[in-house]
Amino acid sequence: MLEQGNRYLSDLAYRRQALLQSLPNHANMYAKQRIGHYALGRRGWDMLPEWNPRSVGVGNAVVAQLGTADVPTQGRLPASTPQLWDGRTPRTMREWVALGRTVFFRYPLRSEVFAEWALRRPETAARVGIEKDASGKYPGIVLFADVDGRSRIGITCALCHTAVHDGRVVEGRARRAFDYGRLRLDYHQDTREPVDADLARRMATWGPGRADVTEDVAEDPVAIPDLWGLRHQTALTQAGTLNHLGPVTLAIRQETQLLHTNHQRVRPPRVLSLALAYYLYSLEPPPVARTHPETAAERRGQALFDSHCVRCHSNEAYGGDPIDHARVGTSPELATGTARGTGRYRPSSLLRVADAAPYLHHGAVATLEDLLSPERLAAGFTRSPVGPGPVPGHTFGTELPQADRDALVAYLRTL
Ligand code: HEC
Ligand code: HEC
Repeated sequence: MLEQGNRYLSDLAYRRQALLQSLPNHANMYAKQRIGHYALGRRGWDMLPEWNPRSVGVGNAVVAQLGTADVPTQGRLPASTPQLWDGRTPRTMREWVALGRTVFFRYPLRSEVFAEWALRRPETAARVGIEKDASGKYPGIVLFADVDGRSRIGITCALCHTAVHDGRVVEGRARRAFDYGRLRLDYHQDTREPVDADLARRMATWGPGRADVTEDVAEDPVAIPDLWGLRHQTALTQAGTLNHLGPVTLAIRQETQLLHTNHQRVRPPRVLSLALAYYLYSLEPPPVARTHPETAAERRGQALFDSHCVRCHSNEAYGGDPIDHARVGTSPELATGTARGTGRYRPSSLLRVADAAPYLHHGAVATLEDLLSPERLAAGFTRSPVGPGPVPGHTFGTELPQADRDALVAYLRTL
């Protein structure tokens, strides 16, 4: 793994080749943008300056400084704040992971006025899932010196990919309480800053734990996924936008994500993107009392899983290779969209699936029972978190008798 990483750091032609191989559909916007700009040497994104920002986590002390007035945060980052990375290339996997963790919590994706606005209103922050841990810190929110030198409030990976549970930060868990659409709507309502009416209508429908992260016109908000089990997946993202060929795929994904969210003004040092990839691989699901079937129902559920589910949920994380979207039958927008579409959906990892509701790429199913219930497919269904009406697709298991479905759910709860 470290050898592949070293080639990513040192070999331009290798990076280009790895990029091309990682894109299953060269015609979507995600692919076109990267093919047009990435690893071209004297053109494109390679010419952007590297950015090693100065950034600190935000806790009560920073929030107190923000005050209640809408004063820009300009000039508040202490001048003594060191840069995030000391410039040394890690030597051991442990050092790589530690550096990657720093990037995950502290490298700003971009400045974020909505988050800054919410920090001044703790009740709003709590309501939209900008969570505080037991020490009063907001994981995923930083105060940083932006590319232009000004201090700003920004967001990091940890805002969407950690959750706070009993005051403790669970790294890699989707922030299912985070309601980005609601946050932005509240901001616009309060500040009277105009917002496009169509966008406002769409944001109101996202709900907690979902966001439309694609650039196309399709209405396709996706659920934030848990990040454990990634290294077992042969494809990344729910529509399988990337063939996953090892740490180099993930490092390129994170390098291009960070330069993209920072408005293509700067790029992260590659050591930091690679560190982030190794850190993501190191994430393990939270420990549970046991992860093997014991009761009769659980064992029966396992046998049913082996006969009905394993052909798709086939790898160690119970995910698998992407499947033609028509065979899955869930809403096609994301899979067929021009932004990241590939025509397929990837079987999700099922590690700790009991805690991963709502389910499916669009988060349209509230419980495992509903996922397996034929009621979900019928016109009168009212229990979807995204609104009344049937939730079609992924009919696997819905044809089984109730007792079998109960057994399957019992087994899924042990994963
Ligand atoms: C605003 C919320 C948000 C932020 C911030 C964010 N992500 Fe995500 N992330 C998502 C969503 C939503 C998806 C699902 C996208 C999809 O499947 O199309 C996702 C998907 C991913 C995946 C693919 C997971 C899989 O199952 O294949 C990885 C890896 C990932 N994010 C890592 C990161 C890293 C690293 C950062 C910081 C650089 C980050 N994300 C920042 C919301 C976010
Ligand atoms: C033909 C392939 C296929 C089969 C068979 C299959 N699945 Fe899936 N499964 C998928 C795909 C693809 C997804 C993601 C679909 C989406 O998000 O639209 C998925 C998603 C899921 C999810 C949602 C996980 C989450 O976190 O959102 C669960 C739970 C699940 N499957 C359980 C099962 C069970 C139980 C069975 C057997 C009864 C089964 N699957 C059979 C392909 C399959």
